[in-house]
Amino acid sequence: MTRKILVLPGDGIGPEITAQASRVLAACQARGLDVEVEEAPVGGTAYDLEGSPLPESTLAKARAADAVLLGAVGGPKWDKLEDISKRPEKGLLGLRKELGLFGNLRPALLYPQLAEASSLKPELVSGLDIMIVRELTGGIYFGQPRGIEERDGQRVGYNTYVYSEAEIERIGRVAFEMAQKRAKKLCSVDKANVLEVTMLWREVMERLAPEYPDVELSHMYVDNAAMQLVRAPKQFDVVVTGNMFGDILSDAAAMLTGSIGMLPSASLNESGQGMYEPCHGSAPDIAGQNVANPLATILSVAMMLRYSLGEAALAERIEAAVGKVLDEGLRTADIAAEGERAVSTSEMGDAVLAAFEAL
Ligand code: NAD
Ligand code: IPM
Ligand code: MN
Repeated sequence: MTRKILVLPGDGIGPEITAQASRVLAACQARGLDVEVEEAPVGGTAYDLEGSPLPESTLAKARAADAVLLGAVGGPKWDKLEDISKRPEKGLLGLRKELGLFGNLRPALLYPQLAEASSLKPELVSGLDIMIVRELTGGIYFGQPRGIEERDGQRVGYNTYVYSEAEIERIGRVAFEMAQKRAKKLCSVDKANVLEVTMLWREVMERLAPEYPDVELSHMYVDNAAMQLVRAPKQFDVVVTGNMFGDILSDAAAMLTGSIGMLPSASLNESGQGMYEPCHGSAPDIAGQNVANPLATILSVAMMLRYSLGEAALAERIEAAVGKVLDEGLRTADIAAEGERAVSTSEMGDAVLAAFEAL
């Protein structure tokens, strides 16, 4: 049966990086992957075209797709929009919420060829393989009430950090199951010394633990986790945490692997439908220059093949092609050593395609 993939290039470097990932997808089609690929606007680009960062037609296509590949959204052009429901980021958050994509997997995996590109010493990161499981449709990002209003003669801004037991339990299960498939260590990150919502989080994780006796569960406060990630990151196998802590910790973890341009992600719902995107943003500072690293987006295609399309062999082929290109010494500017020649976004795409074909 032909499956449907929706590509949402978005803003900034989004179109440049998804263009390279789409070429890799096309190479998979040429090798028998039976998919139909369609594109639609999202984010600021969609706002400019249709007055909404998530047009109804884009949402309908996303619902109908087996998997979505997203570039990135946002940029200074839209940062001043008064109506925050029209901001590009709301398009992304709306997609996550509407599709129920609560389980966000962010693998911080060091390609050995990039040990020197990491901001940590090679011995601290060699062999690094962390899976961050981030809750994606709840927490302070979505809690009510929220807003900015006048109180006692001045404006106050507020958000609500809330999780139900059911929300904690379902992300907990994703993380425990992930740990079972890996090194069987799960670290739950919270702020249970201060915040009731994460006291409940910790309690629910503890309650689940006996169902996964082969997994060693530990807990860590988020401030310590941030420190441990840069002190001794290899102590972590699977990390499970809420929406905002996961957002922050995953950007930090990305840098251990050489660059934010190396970190892919999968966002899954209860029926296995997924959205795949690099963890980084639209990088307005380098947009339109053909210099962005497309590998996080290309590796997100590999995650799509693995988690939504049941095509593990093709996923491995893409990952191996990325490894080969790095072996050959190709580097975009973000992962190049000082003084080393950097390749462009499209040259990196060319090289991955050539390696994919040659494998
Ligand atoms: P960013 O991730 O876009 O950029 C941070 C830094 O990393 C910049 O210096 C950028 O050039 C660099 N960078 C990011 N991706 C890169 C790549 N593939 N190759 C090389 N360098 C790369 O974060 P920001 O600057 O804080 O945010 C910019 C915009 O992106 C904002 O509007 C923000 O809301 C949005 N954003 C979107 C997403 C998303 O769509 N998932 C994620 C994060 C931020
Ligand atoms: C990410 C981004 C988003 C988030 C923003 C753009 C809404 O930073 O995907 O990591 O905070 O989740
Ligand atoms: Mn982020």
